[in-house]
Amino acid sequence: MGDENINPSSEEQLSPSMGWLLYKITRALASSLDLDNVLGRVLSLTVKVFDASCGSIFLLDSRGRIIKSILARQDLPPEVKEQALNAVMEKGFGGWVYRHAKADIIQDTRRDSRWIALPDDSLLTLSAVSAPLIRRGQVTGIITLHHPKPDRFSKEQLDLIQAIAGEAAMAVENASLYKKVMDEHVMLKQLDELKNEFVAHVAHDLKSPLSVIYSYAELLQQFSGLNKEGKEFLREIHTAVNRMRSLIGNVLDINRIEMGIESELAPTDIAEVLNCSVGTVKGLAQEKGISLNVSISDKLPLVNGAPVRLGQVFVNLADNAIKFTPSGGTVNIHANQEGGRVVVHVSDSGPGIPEESIPRLFQKFSRLSQTETRNQEGHGLGLAIVKSIIDAHKGDVWVESVPGKGSTFAFSLPLSV
Ligand SMILES: Nc1ncnc2c1ncn2[C@@H]1O[C@H](COP(=O)(O)OP(=O)(O)O)[C@@H](O)[C@H]1O
Ligand SMILES: [Mg+2]
Repeated sequence: MGDENINPSSEEQLSPSMGWLLYKITRALASSLDLDNVLGRVLSLTVKVFDASCGSIFLLDSRGRIIKSILARQDLPPEVKEQALNAVMEKGFGGWVYRHAKADIIQDTRRDSRWIALPDDSLLTLSAVSAPLIRRGQVTGIITLHHPKPDRFSKEQLDLIQAIAGEAAMAVENASLYKKVMDEHVMLKQLDELKNEFVAHVAHDLKSPLSVIYSYAELLQQFSGLNKEGKEFLREIHTAVNRMRSLIGNVLDINRIEMGIESELAPTDIAEVLNCSVGTVKGLAQEKGISLNVSISDKLPLVNGAPVRLGQVFVNLADNAIKFTPSGGTVNIHANQEGGRVVVHVSDSGPGIPEESIPRLFQKFSRLSQTETRNQEGHGLGLAIVKSIIDAHKGDVWVESVPGKGSTFAFSLPLSV
C-alpha cells in the first residue's frame, strides 16, 4: 500500500489548465466565509475538475473524529451513514490518510485492503484519490474523490488535490474563525440587550420609591419643628435624591434612544432648536461668570431631525462646557452650513481633554480622572446620550482639544431632503 499505488496514468486525464483550475477553486474558496458553503463548493468544483463520479469531505477534531461530513451520498439513513463513516476512519482509506497525513491514490479498490465500500454502493467505486487538509501540522479534514473505473487518477492529479486540500484547509479555518467571531458577536449583542433590559427594569422600579422619598423630603422642608442641623440633613437628602433621579432619568433615556428614535425624525429648523436651548443654559453661564457668545447663522437649512433630541444634544454639550470651565472663562456657540450638512461647534476655555482619553469619552459612564473635571457633579452619561442621538440622525460628533487651553465639541447633521 502507499506510494506504489500512484500510477501516472494516461494523457487524457491530464488537463493542461490545472493551474488555472486551482486558481478558480482558490478564488471560489476565498469568496465565502460560510463553512457549509465553502465545503460544498470545494467538493463540487473538485469533483468536476477531476471528472470524478462523486466525493466526500470530512472535517475532523483533534482526535481524528468526524465533526462534519459532506458526502456525495445523501441517501444513506443516518445510522448507516454514521457506521460507515466510523469504519472508513478506523480501518479504511480515510483513517490511512489521517494517520499518515499524506495524500494517496487507490487505483483499484478491489485489490486494496484500505477500501471499505459504503453499504449499498450502487455507483461502485473502483478508484479513489484522497488528501488530508492540514493546518499547523494537524490533519483537520480529508477530501476524497471516487470513480467507477479503475486507474482513473494520475500522479499529477494527486499533486493537484493536495494543493486544493491546502487551500481548502485554510478556507475552512477562516470560515471556522469567522463563525466563532460571529457567534461571539451575537452572544455579546444578546448579553448587551439583556443588560439593557435589566438596567431599564431596575431604573424604572427605583423611580416610584424615589418619588416618595422626594415628596416627603419636600413636605419635611415645610415642617417647622426642624432645627438648623435637621434642615441641613434634609438638604443633603434632597440633593442626593435629585442626583439619583437625574441618573435614573438618563439611564431610561439612553435605553429609549438605543431602542430607536428614527420615528421622531422630521424636517427640523435647527436654528430655532439651538436658539431655544441657548435660553436654558444662559442662566448657568451667568451664575458662573462665564461669557457665552452665540453665533447661529440665520440662513440655516432644515435638517432631518428630532427637535427635542437635538435640543438635548446641544444642552449636554453646552452644560459640560459651562460646568468644566472655570469662572471668568468663555464658551462660544457657533452654527453654520458646511456643504450638505449643518455643523454646530461648542468651544470652551476650560481644562481641555488629554488626547488618550478622547476615544472613550463617548462611552457610557465615562468620566475622566483629571481633577478639574472629577470634582464636578455628573454620571458620565451625557456624551453617551449625545453620541447615540447623533448616530440615530446619521450625523457625526467629534471633539478637538488642547489640554490647558480648552475643548471644542462639534456635531454635524445631514440636511432634510
Ligand atoms: N467641555 C469639556 N471639557 C473638559 N472635559 C469634558 C468636557 N466635556 C466632557 N468632559 C469630560 O468627559 C466626561 C464625560 O462627560 P459626560 O458624559 O457629559 O458626563 P458628566 O457631565 O456627567 O461627567 C466628563 O466627566 C469630563 O471628564
Ligand atoms: Mg455632562
